[in-house]
Amino acid sequence: MKKGLYIFISGIILLSCGIIKQSDSGEISAYELEIPKGFPEPLIPEANALTQARVDLGRMLFFDPILSIDSSISCASCHDQSLAFADNRAITPGVEGRLAMRNAPTLANVVYNPTFLFDGHLKTLEMQILVPIGEHAEMAFNIVEISKLLQKDSTYVRMSYAAYNRKPDPFVITRAISTFERILISGNSKYDQQAYQGKNVLNKSEKRGMDLFFNQLNCAECHSGFNFTNYTTVNNGLYEVYADSGRQRVTKLESDRALFKVPTLRNISLTAPYMHDGSIATLEEVIAHYKTGGVQHKNKSDKLKPFELSDSETADLIHFLNCLTDKSFLKNKEFRNPFE
Ligand code: HEC
Ligand code: HEC
Repeated sequence: MKKGLYIFISGIILLSCGIIKQSDSGEISAYELEIPKGFPEPLIPEANALTQARVDLGRMLFFDPILSIDSSISCASCHDQSLAFADNRAITPGVEGRLAMRNAPTLANVVYNPTFLFDGHLKTLEMQILVPIGEHAEMAFNIVEISKLLQKDSTYVRMSYAAYNRKPDPFVITRAISTFERILISGNSKYDQQAYQGKNVLNKSEKRGMDLFFNQLNCAECHSGFNFTNYTTVNNGLYEVYADSGRQRVTKLESDRALFKVPTLRNISLTAPYMHDGSIATLEEVIAHYKTGGVQHKNKSDKLKPFELSDSETADLIHFLNCLTDKSFLKNKEFRNPFE
């Protein structure tokens, strides 16, 4: 075989395996993820390596309402950068004001999540994207129809070839948006500066709150590690009878009824209202809930026990939780709406 032809063919094979394509200038522009101090290296799927072209395309798609049936709702309608990519409504309306059942969670640090959704249902970001696109109460659309619209748009076609060397299709849409989500890392809160960056920035009240959180109360048995979650699904005693069956919806097991994934507490001051259904409005009320040990439910975690906490200790704990807010994350230009 002639050498030129051989290189050509092996080039096609490499591309079809999803290996990073060289840009026109011949350079591979891999995207350099900045890992905050104290954070582990995240796992990026080999078949969808981070590149600048993929990030750029994913960001456009994330902010584009073209993903919903009537072009009214984008991913960012429910995952707002100024709210740490969460939302401040208990249930965010989808197309035509339709309401689903759950509260929109933050997307900060989703690159580290071993599972997605409150019931821990899905294992990859690529798969998760099909949920809001298809949900009747969210975007109510179809990824094949979205692909057809994008293929009529010369900017999307150009960006899609630059990112994946193919036209915008479901493969490209799911991979590009996941790539954008993977760069949404938040690790520069006051807590991070204190715990990982060698700075003494927490005041006395915040330090007392940190001690309550980690040592005196057992919050960190579930909200543990650098991302304040152990990613298990548990019942934290909100109701005697739940409208949402939680993890049982997936496994059908009675022992999984009303279990919900432990959420991260990063940027928690911005992501009210709280819990899977947005039923608790403030951090004061969240703490009041935990003080009671939660209401009786047959699947309630035995880690939840009633405890005493004075008003000033409650204030300390809230001051500490407020230290988990990362202002640089909210303003990071790389995450901003490209249409504005
Ligand atoms: C109408 C509001 C709405 C829209 C639009 C929406 N989401 Fe969500 N998102 C939610 C809600 C509510 C949940 C929690 C759902 C559940 O647990 O079943 C969620 C969960 C997620 C999760 C799981 C996070 C975790 O930690 O488990 C990811 C990732 C996500 N959304 C990404 C997206 C992307 C990408 C888009 C656009 C393609 C999008 N969302 C559009 C409301 C929305
Ligand atoms: C047994 C495990 C467990 C323990 C211990 C625990 N939590 Fe939670 N926490 C959860 C689960 C599960 C949820 C989500 C429940 C839901 O969505 O309905 C949650 C939700 C929260 C939320 C709301 C998060 C959001 O984004 O909606 C806050 C705030 C919170 N917990 C703080 C604390 C504090 C403070 C403590 C210690 C006093 C604590 N938790 C102890 C499991 C636990």
